[in-house]
Amino acid sequence: MTSSEHEHISVMLDESVEMLVTNESGQYVDGTFGRGGHTRLVLSKLRDGKLLGFDKDPVAIEFGRKLEAEDSRFEIVQDSFANMLDHIPAVFGTEKIDGIMMDLGVSSPQLDDAERGFSFMNDGPLDMRMNPDQGMSAAEWIAVAAEKEIADVMYQYGEERFSRRIAKAICEKRLEAPITTTAQLSKIVAEANPAWEKGKNPATRAFQGIRIYINNELGDLEKGLEVAADSLKVGGRLVVISFHSLEDRIVKRFMKKMSKGPDLPRHLPIQNAHLDIKFKTVGKATKPSKDEVTSNVRSRSAVLRVLERTRD
Ligand SMILES: C[S@@+](CC[C@H](N)C(=O)[O-])C[C@H]1O[C@@H](n2cnc3c(N)ncnc32)[C@H](O)[C@@H]1O
Repeated sequence: MTSSEHEHISVMLDESVEMLVTNESGQYVDGTFGRGGHTRLVLSKLRDGKLLGFDKDPVAIEFGRKLEAEDSRFEIVQDSFANMLDHIPAVFGTEKIDGIMMDLGVSSPQLDDAERGFSFMNDGPLDMRMNPDQGMSAAEWIAVAAEKEIADVMYQYGEERFSRRIAKAICEKRLEAPITTTAQLSKIVAEANPAWEKGKNPATRAFQGIRIYINNELGDLEKGLEVAADSLKVGGRLVVISFHSLEDRIVKRFMKKMSKGPDLPRHLPIQNAHLDIKFKTVGKATKPSKDEVTSNVRSRSAVLRVLERTRD
């Protein structure tokens, strides 16, 4: 099977697009184009608006190019959504737009295509880069990283309790032979992991941690949220779907800070008027319906949050 044959089922599609599109002549960004599920639904709601898509992944970009050829209201750029300010003024002729969507993390085709090296289920080259032309592959990093760095990455980004033990095993094994495949790494992790969690592959957390590190996912998210909020016009919305607690914590804190101001000691005589609040959250955090989780198990950890600009 080639990478283009792996399908992606868009998560919380109707709910998120319903929240995003408030102006049928509006200007929108899809920060995580993937296979364009959210983009296509947004375009179907626009009369004469415009949508700019971003993705780091070359295969996603190929799909985006096909859509560009079909629909003149759409453009795609191969870049991180963290760099959207470099593109928004040129594409839209303005710095402020009507809405920005982020459906975070990796797509099913990335996970399912063994050749991309994200999967502990299918053996392939240990790569894990969303953009294989940028930065170090997981194999390159694992070959040179210090034991403590490997442990920290698995602990901080994978919340792996046994990160030190696993890092030690990785550093011992890499002296015997280079670790270049996903099967090699998942075997080393499984053997070093003393307490397998029920229903979870023992390499899940280690792989998640390394993937997040290799792609700078949390750094991009923090920067992306700031620049996205800056790019919204009054009434414009930022709609974010996150897939694990580290992402959701960042999104939740950011939206709270923007809509309520920073956490300050209670006794300080500061009122909302002094805080210059320019945003509000829309609704509560939403999870997918039971039916969606049943039909697409990958949606089970999704959380949807929405922020709206209320004034300049
Ligand atoms: C969950 S998928 C999005 C699926 C898409 N919403 C759809 O319906 O087809 C996430 C996509 O975002 C891309 N991605 C993740 N982080 C990114 C970033 N910081 N900048 C640009 N693209 C990113 C990934 O390469 C992947 O293709």
